[in-house]
Amino acid sequence: MKILVTGGAGFIGSNFILYWLKNHPQDLVINLDKLTYAGNLENLKDIKDNKNYSFMHGDICDREIVDKAMEGVGLVVHFAAESHVDRSIMNPSEFVKTNVLGTQVLLDSALKNKIKRFHHISTDEVFGSLKLNDLSIFNERTNYNPRSPYAASKAGSDHLVKAYHVTYGLPVTISNCSNNFGPYQFPEKFIPLAITNLLEGKKVPVYGDGLYVRDWLYVEDHCRAIDLILEKGTVGETYCIGGLTQDINNLEVVKKILKILGEGEEKIEYVKDRPGHDRRYALDWSKIKDELGWEPLYGFDEWLKKTVEWYKKNRQWWTNVKNGEYKTYYKKLYGRP
Ligand code: NAD
Ligand code: DAU
Repeated sequence: MKILVTGGAGFIGSNFILYWLKNHPQDLVINLDKLTYAGNLENLKDIKDNKNYSFMHGDICDREIVDKAMEGVGLVVHFAAESHVDRSIMNPSEFVKTNVLGTQVLLDSALKNKIKRFHHISTDEVFGSLKLNDLSIFNERTNYNPRSPYAASKAGSDHLVKAYHVTYGLPVTISNCSNNFGPYQFPEKFIPLAITNLLEGKKVPVYGDGLYVRDWLYVEDHCRAIDLILEKGTVGETYCIGGLTQDINNLEVVKKILKILGEGEEKIEYVKDRPGHDRRYALDWSKIKDELGWEPLYGFDEWLKKTVEWYKKNRQWWTNVKNGEYKTYYKKLYGRP
């Protein structure tokens, strides 16, 4: 089988390609990626000479390149996106372009090329925000209520994917996943930002009161869920994918990282809150468990420790990434180097 992965040089996409080639060594994987600030071919250095892997540099908004990438492909797994909420607040246009228009270009090409399955990677952020200390939880039937430009652009892409299934019969599946963590995550995101700042002797910026809740999932669990959806999922269906944490807030996450690194709470710095900051996400993943037999294998505390170890061992990877554009972005967002 020939499989096209979009955004395979990013955090989850690169973990997925490494996972896929390990578990499906007979398949051919094409990675189409624009290599934005978030794309990094270093993530894939271990497989760059694998004859079943090839890289194509290109933008998913470019019809010509997308049509070329789609030739002879059976499966498409679509990760490519602008993915960081804070950047979407600074510059929403890029998010609409890549996440909405780029997805539509891919869908057109998938139809033209009679793709057997188009799997769209989405997020729990499309469902909006839950209240703290509440029993409510998102599931596949929750109404969409995106509240950031990022979430709105992902919601737009989800709607297009569903519309191409209903209107044109494109065989699609969608997964809405919670916050991932693990190796190769760009250090603009909270967990790698906290770890790498501490390793550099800096403080960890915590937005607002720090009592924001996310559902955390180790990235390999996400990859395994996608694999199962491709293998056994029902065309036209959506699956929610979540982790094992239960209402753990950002301060608790930072305190765990501080403890792992032997640092004190004076390393926490409360900073200006994110505008429109979603208070709480929680996800019911019983559908994928009951229908496909998936559940997370990696507990938060143990895999957070392993993730910290990974960042300690791979200092060169993140120091390279934290140079250049990252410095300008960081200063603009946090008001200091
Ligand atoms: P990322 O920002 O680390 O990587 C995105 C990748 O897409 C990069 O390699 C980038 O170069 C590429 N890309 C961006 N614009 C492109 C374009 N126009 N054409 C081709 N390539 C382009 O993102 P991530 O965290 O790995 O997220 C991957 C996907 O998973 C996204 O769709 C995101 O919405 C979704 N998701 C992420 C999380 C999370 O916690 N990170 C959770 C749920 C869903
Ligand atoms: O829920 C899934 C989503 O998770 C994905 O769709 C997004 O692509 C991904 O970026 C992530 O979005 P979040 O906004 O939840 O992740 P982020 O790592 O940016 O922030 C996690 C929490 O930490 C959030 O409450 C904001 C807070 N935070 C973040 C940063 C960067 C801080 O307190 N300080 C920070 O410096």
